Amino acid sequence: MTDQTSNQMWGGRFAAGPDAIMEAINASIGYDQRMAAQDIAGSRAHAAMLAATGVISDSDAEAIREGLLTVLSEIEGGTFQFSTALEDIHMNVEARLKEVIGEPAGRLHTGRSRNDQVATDFKLWVRDQLDAAEAGMLALIRALLSQAEAGADWVMPGFTHLQTAQPVTWGHHMMAYVEMFGRDLSRVRDARARMNESPLGAAALAGTSFPIDREMTASALGFDRPAANSLDAVSDRDFALEFLSTASICAMHLSRFAEELVIWSSAQFRFVTLSDRFSTGSSIMPQKKNPDAAELIRAKVGRIFGANTALMMVMKGLPLAYSKDMQEDKEQVFDAADNWMLALAAMEGMVKDMTGNRESLAAAAGSGFSTATDLADWMVRVLKVPFRDAHHVTGTLVAMAESRGCDLPDLSLDDMQGVHAGITADIFTVLGVENSVNSRMSYGGTAPAQVRAQVARWQALLAD
Ligand code: ARG
Repeated sequence: MTDQTSNQMWGGRFAAGPDAIMEAINASIGYDQRMAAQDIAGSRAHAAMLAATGVISDSDAEAIREGLLTVLSEIEGGTFQFSTALEDIHMNVEARLKEVIGEPAGRLHTGRSRNDQVATDFKLWVRDQLDAAEAGMLALIRALLSQAEAGADWVMPGFTHLQTAQPVTWGHHMMAYVEMFGRDLSRVRDARARMNESPLGAAALAGTSFPIDREMTASALGFDRPAANSLDAVSDRDFALEFLSTASICAMHLSRFAEELVIWSSAQFRFVTLSDRFSTGSSIMPQKKNPDAAELIRAKVGRIFGANTALMMVMKGLPLAYSKDMQEDKEQVFDAADNWMLALAAMEGMVKDMTGNRESLAAAAGSGFSTATDLADWMVRVLKVPFRDAHHVTGTLVAMAESRGCDLPDLSLDDMQGVHAGITADIFTVLGVENSVNSRMSYGGTAPAQVRAQVARWQALLAD
C-alpha cells in the first residue's frame, strides 16, 4: 500500500514520498518553528474544547494537553528534533505528540485543518508583536517627552526645503515626532482591535460537522470573538498586511528622524551629540564618531517596506480560500517585526542618551535671516502695511544685509528707514530669535509655553 517514505500525516493516497526538491520548496519548518508556542497554545485550547463538547474523551484531551506541554518544553529546551519531511511546525508538533502520548494524539486534529491552525498561530504571533511595538513606541515617546521638557525653550533653526525658515524650539521639534509616533501607536491599537477574531474552527474552508464551540477556543486564546466566515477566516492575511503597513509608516517616521540625527550630529551642524553607547568609531580615522545606529534605522526601513510590498503581491491574485502561496507570509512578517522592534529600541536609546547642543542650536537659530517673517509681521501689526508690501520691504532689507555680510539685527535704523520711512526702533524687539519663538503662541505653535502645554497633555495621556 503506502510507501514507507510517504508522509505520515497525509500520505494515505500517496505511493511514493516527495522529491528532495519538492520537500525543500514545501517546507516551512526552518522559520515557522518561531510559532511553536502559539501552535501549542492553539492546540491545547482546541483539545479542551473537543472534550467539553463531547467530541473526544476527557482523558484523551488531558493526555493531549499534557503531552503538548512536554513537546513545548523540548522545543524551548532546544532538544526537539525538527524534521523537514514533516514540513511545518503544525505537523512537527503533532508527530512528536504521537511519539510522546501515542494513540490519543491522532484525535487532536478532529474538526480543524492546518488552514485554520496556521491562521490562528500566525495571528497570535502578530498580536504579540503588536503588543511589543506598542511598548516600544511608548518608551520612545517618553524619551522624546523628556527631551522636549528639558529643551522647551532652546531655540534652533526651523527648516523648510532644508533652508533656514523660522526659529523654532528644540522642544517643539521633539514634540513633532511625539505626534508622529502617537499616530503610529493609535494605528497599532486599531490593528490589534480589528484583527482579534479567532480563525480556529473554520477548519479547511467550510467549517465542520462536529459540534465544536468556537466561542470557547476564541476566548481561551484571548480573541474577542470567532471570525464569522470560515472561507474568509482561512484566507485572510489582512492582519499581517496591516501589521506591515503600520510598521512601514512608523519605520518611515523613524527614518526621517534618523536622517535628521545623521545631519545634526555632523561637524557642520553640531546640533546634537550622540552618546558613545549609540555611536561607533572608524578603524582608520581616529577623530570619527559615526551615527551608525541612525544610519541602520534609515536603511532597515527598506526591508520593512519590501516585506509589505512582497506580501501584497503574494495575496493579490489568490482565489478563495487557502493557497500554499500564503506560506510565504511568515518570513516577511518575521523579518519586518525583528527589524521594527530593533529600530524602535535603538531610536529610544539614542534619544534618551543624546545631548542637544544648546549653544550651537542658538547660534544657528539666528543665522540665515530666520526672523525675516517677524520683521514683516511687525510692519503689518504696527504700521498696518499689507503683508505683501511688508514682504517686499523685508526682502529688500534681507538683500541689503546679505550684500554686507551681516544679519538683520545688525542693520541700523537709518538703513531700515531708508527702505521704509515708517519703521521705528521698536522693530529690533522682534528681530531676536527668543522674541520670535515666544511670540508664536498660536495653538500648536513653537512658543515654549505652547510646547510645555503639549508635553503636559501627552504626559496626562500616557498616565491614563
Ligand atoms: N505551512 C503551511 C502555511 O504556512 C500550513 C498550512 C498548510 N495547509 C495546507 N493545506 N497545505 O501556510
